[in-house]
Amino acid sequence: MSDHPQVRPNRRTVLKAGGVTAAGAIAAGALPATATAAPSTVDGVEPGAGVQITLRVNGADHPVSVEPRVTLLDALRERLGLTGTKKGCDRGECGACTVLVDGQRIKSCLTLAVMRQGQRITTVEGLARDGQLHPVQAAFIRRDAFQCGFCTPGQIMSAVAAIEEGHTGSDAEIREWMSGNLCRCSCYPNIVAAVRDAAKEARG
Ligand code: FES
Ligand code: FES
Repeated sequence: MSDHPQVRPNRRTVLKAGGVTAAGAIAAGALPATATAAPSTVDGVEPGAGVQITLRVNGADHPVSVEPRVTLLDALRERLGLTGTKKGCDRGECGACTVLVDGQRIKSCLTLAVMRQGQRITTVEGLARDGQLHPVQAAFIRRDAFQCGFCTPGQIMSAVAAIEEGHTGSDAEIREWMSGNLCRCSCYPNIVAAVRDAAKEARG
């Protein structure tokens, strides 16, 4: 039999011991580096720091400072003041943020501004020429293809691309290739009619 009575640990004594140990370690700077280090950097850029980039939007170069995490959508709206491009879901589901990049339609909420340097970005503000609306814009007005208008810039940018891609041969094809753009006002029949008109006009 032992000379010392057996001491059985309980919750209180364990917590107390742990607290003392951790406090001592912090005071002594003895905790592993990962427990006390500042957040790590990405590619040498400090969190919160801006990166100087140039975005080529609607034919003009725009120098802008953005954090690497900033989406193209936020850069367009909040840094360049181009609020025609709308933020709906901000996660790639509604198409309200559609813009053209080198002629391809993309959802600008799903790409980072820093990834789009040197590329040709077109927003709805860049479609009109010499005070004349783009034929797709004119067709949307003629066909009354909107109610609240929130989805309309994205619909128009998608329609411009769909016509260019040659995906407007029938109403069914238009519906299919415009299906990434949602309209909460359900203007779909009028949108299809507008795209059909503009496609016909483009074919001559
Ligand atoms: Fe980009 Fe909805 S805001 S897809
Ligand atoms: Fe209102 Fe499409 S016109 S969401």
